[in-house]
Amino acid sequence: MYHRFDAVIVGAGGAGLMAAAQLAGKCNVAVITKLYPVRSHTGAAQGGIAAALANVEEDHWIWHMFDTVKGGDYLVDQDAAEVLAREAIDAIIELEHWGFPFNRLPDGRIDQRRFGGHTRNFGEAPVRRSCYAADRTGHMILQTLYQQSIKNQVVFFDEFMMLDLLLTDDGVCTGVVALDVETGEFHVFHAKAVLLATGGYGRVFKVTSNALSLTGDGVAIVFRRGLPLEDMEFYQFHPTGIYKLGILLSEACRGEGGILRNGLGERFMERYAPTLLDLAPRDVVSRSIYHEIREGRGVEGKDYVYLDLTHLPKEVIETKLADNTDFVRTYLGLDPVVDPIPIQPTAHYAMGGIPTDVDGRVTVDAQNTPVPGLYAAGECACVSVHGANRLGTNSLVDLVVFGRRAGKHMLQFVQENDLHPLPKEPDYRARAEVEWILENEGQEKVATIRAELQEAMMADASVFRTGDGLRRMQDKLVELRNRFTRITIDDRSRTFNTDLVEAIELGYLLDCAEAIVACALAREESRGAHYREDFPQRDDANWLKHTLVTRTSGGLELSYKPVIITRFQPKERTY
Ligand code: FUM
Repeated sequence: MYHRFDAVIVGAGGAGLMAAAQLAGKCNVAVITKLYPVRSHTGAAQGGIAAALANVEEDHWIWHMFDTVKGGDYLVDQDAAEVLAREAIDAIIELEHWGFPFNRLPDGRIDQRRFGGHTRNFGEAPVRRSCYAADRTGHMILQTLYQQSIKNQVVFFDEFMMLDLLLTDDGVCTGVVALDVETGEFHVFHAKAVLLATGGYGRVFKVTSNALSLTGDGVAIVFRRGLPLEDMEFYQFHPTGIYKLGILLSEACRGEGGILRNGLGERFMERYAPTLLDLAPRDVVSRSIYHEIREGRGVEGKDYVYLDLTHLPKEVIETKLADNTDFVRTYLGLDPVVDPIPIQPTAHYAMGGIPTDVDGRVTVDAQNTPVPGLYAAGECACVSVHGANRLGTNSLVDLVVFGRRAGKHMLQFVQENDLHPLPKEPDYRARAEVEWILENEGQEKVATIRAELQEAMMADASVFRTGDGLRRMQDKLVELRNRFTRITIDDRSRTFNTDLVEAIELGYLLDCAEAIVACALAREESRGAHYREDFPQRDDANWLKHTLVTRTSGGLELSYKPVIITRFQPKERTY
């Protein structure tokens, strides 16, 4: 089936819907989404969205910018960080005007709370910068933006899975190919501009806060099309996932006063981050938890520690942390009002992804040459505003600020440009991939390969890494890739075939894992979330640069591009 639109957005999370809001009513726009829109993973972002509103205490956008740069261990492009911190303020007001149900101060202004790494006066002490709706801020962003989309008559293609990106021989984007999961039909979307807002790829790891659908689809498709990915070695582990399950317990728990305690009952963050304590950035807190565990101070000598909320007023726990409280009661049978909660770091957020400039245009090289008509925003993109480690609540700001900028730039682009012709047989690759999976007669199971991938990535490419472990992981990926060619699926039908969807997704996960591991092995230093035990120091002389990884017929090729430094020179990071 063939469709023609001015603009096509792939993904209905915060970035996709924010972009759609800029385009709706002004040009012909469609949103393609693997899920029903309000099930998108933005809904799992809990604790807040940062903006220096200064509603509760003094704050300034430049303090926010500084924290973002320092939190990202100086790998942040500072032009992007400045845009983020400045435009966050307007973005919040825009959300408020669209009906976002923020928690309020008694005088009616938006309330704000603390979050990790956000400080006043360039690092002096935690600041209240996170605007929030209890612990379901992302969910409320989705509801608000989806309501705007419906009001503005955006056309949605729900449960359509993107399979391919269409580029002309001279590199102009002309659309996408998608599978209608309900019917198994292929759809070609011909467009002047495409925005990829497909989210992250946390499902490469065993313990993750990411939903089942977070399989790096957009990232992998771009990679397969020979475009580079940026900074793939930087993957964030959030300190407080429910033990073994990985389900997120928001940093807002610590923002509201929660404390991390080891098996001896000690508030161990006093040793690692004497100023910010439990509200140090996530890379610091996650490593500290594992140091405690490695030194035998996990609870009962096991591989977890406690998140302790028992000293907080019951009313705060029940109202401001209502969903988290519900998760703990449901999944652990514990009550956060009286019980400490077993937690471990959980794979949470990809700092790397599809390189873009501050207008969301996908770029291909160190000179930031854009691909005409192709945009990316949100977690699948790397603008690079998070550098080596993202601060909590900066993901939701990233979605709304850069989703909005991408949408505005796309509007200008579609008004100034004609539709390029599609390549011949635009859907042949997508059809070939699906037919291959449906017909392959092997012995390997998708679920088995996926589980082995996740287990091995957790062991050798997560919070602590070594050259030996990463090389072991590379060998494992070669083995898994081989076995993937011998998969078989049980369901051979076309209708809502989740076996087929999972097999396609596994291919994407393998692509993402290969990129992560190659970049991590090459980067012989420790910075932000990338910690090499064999190279434990940050090395600005050799590694203050972004990685670009490209898939070529000869294998993966790495190149580098400079970090944009405008206001803050790199310094040692202490908290
Ligand atoms: O902890 C949280 O609520 C997560 C927020 C984020 O990743 O920004």
